[in-house]
Amino acid sequence: LHEKYGKKNLVLCGFMGSGKTTIGRKLARVTGLDFVDADLYLEEKEGMKISDIFAQKGEAYFRDRETAYIRELSQRDGIVLSLGGGAVLRPENVAAVKETGLLIHLDTPFYRILKNLSYSNSRPLLNRPDKQAETRRLYNARKAIYHRVSDTSVRSPKLSEVLDKVVKSV
Ligand code: S3P
Repeated sequence: LHEKYGKKNLVLCGFMGSGKTTIGRKLARVTGLDFVDADLYLEEKEGMKISDIFAQKGEAYFRDRETAYIRELSQRDGIVLSLGGGAVLRPENVAAVKETGLLIHLDTPFYRILKNLSYSNSRPLLNRPDKQAETRRLYNARKAIYHRVSDTSVRSPKLSEVLDKVVKSV
């Protein structure tokens, strides 16, 4: 697959808890590409957890750093890149990743997302008393955007289905 795919990157987008990191790691293993998680990359470069960045420097600062690192990572060849859930809200981020990569949307059912998120306290956007309502509101608001910006959507985030879509699209 790597040879057939050439130097293109495989980029995963989708809502928080849609499985981008888990699927991304597996996709990297089976394709032989290197795996990069954009959120972890940002945390490493900034030397801070995302929740602390939001709390201490604000969301605007986070979004600007996110854009800068996405631009940087998009210049790599042959990586699987998992984006943060809000990354594709900025058209310039979408344009940057699509220049060198195939943008794949993990269209995970909402009940799975809730299940995945129930173990997590690291998402500042959802750290509110009305967590579940806020998650649904954001999910509904973003769903159409993920569909619109991506090259392909995978309804069930099973690795075999993601691979199938990737293979069909090359
Ligand atoms: C965000 C998603 C998070 C992280 C930040 C903001 C969002 O990434 O980038 O908390 O706006 O959806 P994950 O999708 O990996 O949780």
